[in-house]
Amino acid sequence: MGEVTCPGDKSISQRAVMIGSLLNADIKITGFLNGEDPISTANALNKIGSSIAIEGTEVNIKKRVDPFTSSDGLVDLGNSGTGMRLMMGLVSGLGLDAILVGDESLSKRPMLRVANPLNEMGASVTCEEGMPPVNISPGQITNNFLYEMPIASAQVKSSIILAALAANKKVSVIEKSPTRDHTERMIRYFEGDIESKEHNSGNIITYNPSELSSKPSYEVVGDFSSAAFMIVAGLIARDSRILVKNVGMNPTRSGLLHVLKSMGGKISIKNTATICNEEVADILVESSDLHGVDVKGDIIPIIIDEIPILSIAASFAKGTTLIKDAAELRVKESDRLAAISDGLLKINIDHELFDDGIKINGSDKDIDDLVEIDSHGDHRIAMSFLIASLRSKNGIRVKDCKNIFTSFPTFLSSMKELGLSINEQT
Ligand code: S3P
Repeated sequence: MGEVTCPGDKSISQRAVMIGSLLNADIKITGFLNGEDPISTANALNKIGSSIAIEGTEVNIKKRVDPFTSSDGLVDLGNSGTGMRLMMGLVSGLGLDAILVGDESLSKRPMLRVANPLNEMGASVTCEEGMPPVNISPGQITNNFLYEMPIASAQVKSSIILAALAANKKVSVIEKSPTRDHTERMIRYFEGDIESKEHNSGNIITYNPSELSSKPSYEVVGDFSSAAFMIVAGLIARDSRILVKNVGMNPTRSGLLHVLKSMGGKISIKNTATICNEEVADILVESSDLHGVDVKGDIIPIIIDEIPILSIAASFAKGTTLIKDAAELRVKESDRLAAISDGLLKINIDHELFDDGIKINGSDKDIDDLVEIDSHGDHRIAMSFLIASLRSKNGIRVKDCKNIFTSFPTFLSSMKELGLSINEQT
C-alpha cells in the first residue's frame, strides 16, 4: 500500500503568518506550506515590518520592536490571490500606504470585490480597471460595518475581517452560502471574539474588538486541496490502495469527499483529531468504479478548488457528471472552465462547456495517444492532467508546470511515493 503525508494547508499557512504578525509576540508555526504563495505573503508582511523567518516547514515570527510601517517599494504577492486580497484588508486596517503587485496571472484577477467593501468600510483602496496594482493609502476604518457579500468568497470575507481585526473595530459579514472558515477558527483559537451564526442558507459572522492571546506555537494541518489530487489518483488508478496522512478535514473544505463517495469512491477516514481548531485525519482510498453525479448549488464554494481534479474523476466515471453554478472558476489562476475543457478535448473526453460549468461524459477506456496539455500557467490544471496520465497508455505531457510550486512543492515526490512516475523536462 502506498502511503504519503499531505503538505501544509496553503490558506491556513497564509492566515497564520498574517494573524501571527498581528499577535506581536514570538510564535513558532509548524507544518507551514513552504510553497511560493505562502512565501510571497510572508515576504509581503516583512515589507511592512513583520519579522518572519522561514526554515523549511517551520516559521518563526518575532515580536516586533517597531510598529508596522508603510512599505517603500512595491509589495509583490506573486501568483497569490489569497495573499493579495487578504493583505488589502490587513494593510487597510493598519492604516498604511502600500502598492500591491502580482505576476501576470494575478495582474488579471478582479480586485474590486475586495476594494469596494473595504472602501465602504472607510479604507482608501484604488486599482485601475479593477485589477492589480492595488494602491492603498491610510483611511479610517469605521465601527459596526455590515457587509452582505454578493458572491460566496472566503477571501472577501477574510479581508474584511482582517481589516476590522487590525483596526480594532466591530464588523459583520453575511455570506449567502458557507465558505472556508479558517480565519474565524484561527481568531477563535487565539481567543478573539468572533461568532458565526446560520443566516438563511449561509452565515453571519461578527467580529467584536478583542485582545488576541498569543500562544507559543501554531500547527498547520495538511491541505485538503493537495490531498484531493492523491485521493482521485487512488480512485482512478487500477489496483491501488493508498493512505494519505494528515489531511485537513474542515467541513468547509472537504466537500469533495461527499461528492466522490456519492460517485462510488471507496474512501474511509481514520485517526481523526483536532489540531489548533482544525480537524485532521488520514484517508484510505482504493481503486473504484465511479459513476457520474450532478454537482451544483451551495456545495460549489466549498469544493471550488477541487473542481479541476473532480473533472478528471468524472472523465473516468461511468455516465455523465454535471457541474453548474461554478462561474467563479473563470476568474481563478486561469479561466479554469476553459482550461479544463481544453485539456479534456486533448484526451478525447466528450463534454459540453457552459458559462458556469461543464457536463462531462466519462469513459472507461484508457487514453491511447501521447498528448500534450497546456496548463495555462495554472497549478491545479497542471496537477489534474498529470493525474489523468494514470489512465493513459502512452503518457500525458503537461506544459508549463512551474506554478505547481505555488501550492504543492512536493507534488512530484509525493506522486512518486504513490507509484506514479513523472519525468521533469525543462
Ligand atoms: C481561498 C478562497 C477561495 C479559494 C482560494 C483560497 C482562501 O477563493 O479559491 O484558492 O484562502 O480564502 P475565493 O474566496 O475567491 O472563492
